[in-house]
Amino acid sequence: MSVHEILRMGDPRLLRQAEPITEFNTPALDTVIADMFDTMHAANGAGLAAPQIGVNSQLVIFGFKQNAGDPDAVPVPETVLINPVITLLSKDIEENWEGCLSVPGFRGVVPRWSQVRYEGFDQFGNPIRREVDGFHARVVQHECDHLIGVLYPMRVTDFSRFGFTDILFPERDPNDDD
Ligand code: NI
Repeated sequence: MSVHEILRMGDPRLLRQAEPITEFNTPALDTVIADMFDTMHAANGAGLAAPQIGVNSQLVIFGFKQNAGDPDAVPVPETVLINPVITLLSKDIEENWEGCLSVPGFRGVVPRWSQVRYEGFDQFGNPIRREVDGFHARVVQHECDHLIGVLYPMRVTDFSRFGFTDILFPERDPNDDD
């Protein structure tokens, strides 16, 4: 297990379409997932997609017990999601702040679908199917965007609400930089 370098915006490897995973429960997959959790925890992130460590596979992880930056955020279970498909459950859109480990030091308001179903597989090949809303729905959409080469600044519609985290939120813990 090891902490990897996280690719930053501008790296063309973040703009690729990720490939589906065809073999589950393999030592190679277990290693990538363990490394992703190490990397996400070391960076205090709420989610990480495989392309962010240069692995071009349809694999994301996310979840947190408590978010230091937003104590009101509802915990999201720690999840490994492979070959995900997202379906809208409503056309309602919600705006909220996002950051990204590939865009360190910034925050922006991003419109997202407020209620979605996500389906996919865990690392053993067991199917996952959940209907979620709020921050859980937001983090899934953010991470799955990484699998189609989309970073959250590409979804920002109002650039008066995009900027440096320490300027926007002077009270915020500077180490909480997801
Ligand atoms: Ni991200």
